[in-house]
Amino acid sequence: MPNSLIRSTGYWVPSNVITNDELVASYNAYAERFNAEHAAAIAAGEIDEVPLSNSDFIVNASGIKRRHVYEKDGILDIERMVPQIAPRPIEEISTQAEFALKSVNEALERAGYDGKDIDGVIVASSAQQRNFPGVSCEIQNAIGAKGFSFDLTMACASALYGLHIANGFIKSGEAKRILVCSPEIMTCINVHSRRDVHFIFGDASAAMIVEADDGRPGGWDVLGTHAENKWSSALRSDFGFINRAERQIDPDYEPHLDQDGHRVFKDVVGFAPKVARNLMTKIDLQPEDVRRTWLHQANIRMVDMIAKRILGRDRTEENAPAILDEYGNTSSSSVVMNFQMHSDDMAAGETGVMCAFGAGYGVGAAAVRKR
Ligand code: COA
Repeated sequence: MPNSLIRSTGYWVPSNVITNDELVASYNAYAERFNAEHAAAIAAGEIDEVPLSNSDFIVNASGIKRRHVYEKDGILDIERMVPQIAPRPIEEISTQAEFALKSVNEALERAGYDGKDIDGVIVASSAQQRNFPGVSCEIQNAIGAKGFSFDLTMACASALYGLHIANGFIKSGEAKRILVCSPEIMTCINVHSRRDVHFIFGDASAAMIVEADDGRPGGWDVLGTHAENKWSSALRSDFGFINRAERQIDPDYEPHLDQDGHRVFKDVVGFAPKVARNLMTKIDLQPEDVRRTWLHQANIRMVDMIAKRILGRDRTEENAPAILDEYGNTSSSSVVMNFQMHSDDMAAGETGVMCAFGAGYGVGAAAVRKR
């Protein structure tokens, strides 16, 4: 049974940035206009006032200061509050596949591979641009990869579910070299007119090349992967293929992204470290032998608490780096970005644990050792 290893990673973030102040100014302008227009109904208790947001709250409650976004003007324009992205003719590459390729090409380049060296493509992300054909099939075609391709989703944990599956395929001999990519244009999923969530997400794409160990040096041995789920609807995005049918019954139906932030915080801080620890037990890895954990970036206090429970010691920037001040929550791409940004300083033989968690709830974990 061959061992699998992460040969390389790549990531890409757009250069457009929205600061908390910019986002809050736009959101508050929307809220004030709504409240003025609906003053009578609000006074009569028929509808709720839209509450104002605040930059200090955002940074203190989440740790997020800025986010990089695919398209900025549409998000900040209170007439729209969604990015503006032109539909493309079917003979052109889709927006999400193009977005993915920016990180895929970096991962291929860092490994010194060509697309034809890949024999499996998994798009593992919170959402895919269309139902079919798979975005993975489009990426496979664009890079000239062989073998199979498919899309999977498990929200912010998707990339580590992709790694879990790639690890299994490689160990079983089903494939030799798999590309797992996580193109996340989360600002298209988010609802920027909802105070509880308007500040959370940023956009980014990340990719990993996972392959069978053929004895060449470099890369990271995959010591083990693990995934567990526990149903909850405290964090959900209801956009989907039944929306058109639902609107036949209720033309005003608006599918939302929404969350009970408190509930998610509490549940996930309990669940995620348990899954990482279950993996560690399975492969007999002691917390003191883990130099670093790379965590999904959702909220700085969650990062603090989950890191402490995985490592059995207080979090530091050295043992569990945080990148969400600059990028926000970039969903499944964040754990791969974090790994790439904070792994060069580790020495051969040192071990780290990746852990990503999100809606579902779904939690994925992977232990890797530098070769
Ligand atoms: N601006 C200003 N005030 C706000 C606000 C905003 N954007 N959002 C909430 N508030 C207010 C609330 O009304 C409340 O006021 P009150 O005390 O007068 O009632 C107060 O701030 C605290 O709100 P609360 O919802 O308890 O904040 P919190 O500390 O739980 O932080 C989240 C909110 C969303 C940042 C936090 O719950 C969180 O990060 N949860 C996890 C969500 C997540 O990461 N999801 C993705 C998982 S992968």
